[in-house]
Amino acid sequence: MAQGAAAESLMPLQLTWPSRSHGCGAVVLGDIGQRVTICGWVDRNRDMGGVQFFDVRDHTGLLQVQRTYSMPVICEPQSVPAEVSRAASRLRNEYVVCVTGILRARKDPNPRIPTGQLELLAESVTILNTVTRPLPFPISEAEEVEPPKEDTRLKHRVLDLRVQPGEWYALPQSPQLFKQMLMVAGMDRYYQIARCFRDEDLRADRQPEFTQLDLEVAFMDDAALQGLMEGLVVEVFEQLLGVKLTTPFRRMSYAEAMDKYGSDKPDLRFGLDFVDVSEAVAGCGFKVFAGAVAEGGAVKAIRVPDGKRISNTRIKPKGDIANEAVAAGAAGLASIRVAADGSLDAAKPIKEGLSAEQAKQLLDSTGAQPGDLLLLAAGPRDVVARALDRVRQLLGRELGLIQPGTHSLLWVVDFPMFEYNADEGRYQAIHHPFTAPRPDDWASGDYVNARALAYDLVYNGVEIGGGSLRIYRRDIQQKVFELIGLTPEEAQSKFGYLLDCFEYGAPPHGGLAFGLDRMAMLLAGAPSIRDVIAFPKTAQAQCALTGAPAPVADKQLAELHVTPADKQRA
Ligand code: AMO
Repeated sequence: MAQGAAAESLMPLQLTWPSRSHGCGAVVLGDIGQRVTICGWVDRNRDMGGVQFFDVRDHTGLLQVQRTYSMPVICEPQSVPAEVSRAASRLRNEYVVCVTGILRARKDPNPRIPTGQLELLAESVTILNTVTRPLPFPISEAEEVEPPKEDTRLKHRVLDLRVQPGEWYALPQSPQLFKQMLMVAGMDRYYQIARCFRDEDLRADRQPEFTQLDLEVAFMDDAALQGLMEGLVVEVFEQLLGVKLTTPFRRMSYAEAMDKYGSDKPDLRFGLDFVDVSEAVAGCGFKVFAGAVAEGGAVKAIRVPDGKRISNTRIKPKGDIANEAVAAGAAGLASIRVAADGSLDAAKPIKEGLSAEQAKQLLDSTGAQPGDLLLLAAGPRDVVARALDRVRQLLGRELGLIQPGTHSLLWVVDFPMFEYNADEGRYQAIHHPFTAPRPDDWASGDYVNARALAYDLVYNGVEIGGGSLRIYRRDIQQKVFELIGLTPEEAQSKFGYLLDCFEYGAPPHGGLAFGLDRMAMLLAGAPSIRDVIAFPKTAQAQCALTGAPAPVADKQLAELHVTPADKQRA
């Protein structure tokens, strides 16, 4: 406990994703004199009176760090700050640290390790995470102890994998938590092709069984991780399509994507951005507009240049374009044509409901010109977004606005951490509860409105990959569980293995998964994900070929320890 309490007091206040310049074992004699930043685990801590030495370990090896312990007895250089030596004097094995310093030749070379002729003279030591519970067995190879028993190792590796009658395996939605635990185990980078199983509404780009190209990395921030992924996507496009993409890909905040396109995966191969005209029409005589604004909703417009391309039949009630808005939950779709003289041509209640000043403001804010058509939706913001998103996508296709051979890649970032689920009366995580909050938002204390360090990669309006930087501290993870309504007992029983391993020195980490089948669909130009899967499920999640799922006999269920009551529940 004493160790835990000391470690708590050293806990950094924020999550942080520092960048390293070298792997610990990757420095060479030629780097002597350079300023170097390494990240890793404190391996061996030796107190030599006035000076302290410790090794920092990562997947590439070990490097000795020297830092002043008690100033100013031995202090090279004199400028080593006092707080560095104070913080470092509390370093314990397996703390996760980031050290910047000058690389120099070691006075007492150690021939047993490849970096044995080098050491880093610390200028700054940042503690990224501490160890708050006793380690079940030592990690450092420097400690010569009895090897731990296999059962101890397995317990602390992942889950207990026994199948017991009456207990259930859950198929993984995605193997993310296992990737995260591999980072705590010091793997640094991990790639896998993972089979995932999801019970969700099926669409043209979704299957209940699908495949991810899945990865996790330690000690890398979001920009670096996105850059790494861009390299991979560029290579794939070049190899498979002969298309050269330019990097960096565009980035857009979730807020902007929702505001301008009503979607968190906007297709940017064409324009037709939404314009918020709420201010222009507030208080007007047309009740649908005025009411939406008064109730805290919005009125937004899409400007269609050369609007005569779209007939009135299509935008009137029951017309195919109006139907898109209605299918998304909107009461209807309003339309206004701008006549040659600049006056507005619209249904009587709209025309008469707008004052001359309001009509002018509407034209000014949308930039509408004579001949243009404005299509407008009014209501709660989420309904307006969904309705105009559908209208925009239909227009994009129908008006031939998408140039063949256009490849639009976009990172959508800064998703909100949480959304309120009114039916269940609680907040829920938008991505998943393991996503790290933006440290600046979290520090404000307004947790439920914090943005997440999450990012989706969108290709031509389809999400092809998604990921996030992760929470790597127990207290923050527990707070997030609490905010989504999990009691501490529930959190421990469901995710205790993850929470516990965050106490053993968890490095800052993050990851991403590409939808492999979805990418194959897009790269092949196939209209449905079913076209690129050998034996796909139908939109009803059935296998048309084998007839699965199918009833099974009670005897078979009994062999699997499924009782009639369990069957009923399922
Ligand atoms: P996410 O849920 O965003 O993230 O999934 C990542 C990518 O997988 C693809 N995908 C699907 N493909 C086909 N059918 C489905 N039902 C389906 N669901 C998702 C999409 C999506 O972008 N654990 C995180 C990744 C991470 O953070 O590391 C995850 O699974 O292309």
